[in-house]
Amino acid sequence: MHFTYYGHSCFLVETKGTKLLFDPFISGNPLASQVIDMNTIQADYILVSHGHADHTADLVSVAGRTGAKVICAFEISEWLGKQGITNVHPMNTGGKWDFGPFSVKCVTAHHSSGLPDGSYGGNPMGFIVYTPEKTFYYSGDTALTLDMQLIPRWAVLDFAVLPIGDNFTMGLADAVESAGMIKCRNIIGVHYDTFGFIKIDHAAAKKTFTDAGCTLQLLKIGETIGV
Ligand code: NI
Ligand code: MN
Repeated sequence: MHFTYYGHSCFLVETKGTKLLFDPFISGNPLASQVIDMNTIQADYILVSHGHADHTADLVSVAGRTGAKVICAFEISEWLGKQGITNVHPMNTGGKWDFGPFSVKCVTAHHSSGLPDGSYGGNPMGFIVYTPEKTFYYSGDTALTLDMQLIPRWAVLDFAVLPIGDNFTMGLADAVESAGMIKCRNIIGVHYDTFGFIKIDHAAAKKTFTDAGCTLQLLKIGETIGV
């Protein structure tokens, strides 16, 4: 399985030839827009954690160009329909669905979810993604929440993708707590450095996780790793 980081909370997971893109936000990201050519991004599925612009700004364009199936909250699927994106699979917190190459369980995220035009985006969500290769958790934007203690009842995680930038989401200390609750030591950090409020010290961030017996990976934008 391969993981490619496109900056902020946008990433691609490829499993056995199926491409899962998460939270497309590139053109408005000053760190990513010069590095990543959005028109080269391929996707078979796009998973959207919530409606905020830093997770959906490029959703309509990438979904339209690729024809990928969008997996998102019901309200976001309705919003997409009004913009001509009809290959959607609406879900809501607590639900699980088998898409064939993978399954998704939608879990609680403690955040908000307004869409860029002010439309109501429903519940923000995290995802547990089960594939024949690996199982992972992407929390989406969230606070540390006791609901994370439920994750090990549903999955033994190979890795987790967690926000670490603080201010809008968990910061480092809470992300380390989260890693304990979800029983996963292999963490990929997202939602940091993009704007002023969420800039982090990379070395200090990694040390915070190492001291807790965990590994934090901070990828370069455009970097692909095996996971
Ligand atoms: Ni958000
Ligand atoms: Mn965000």
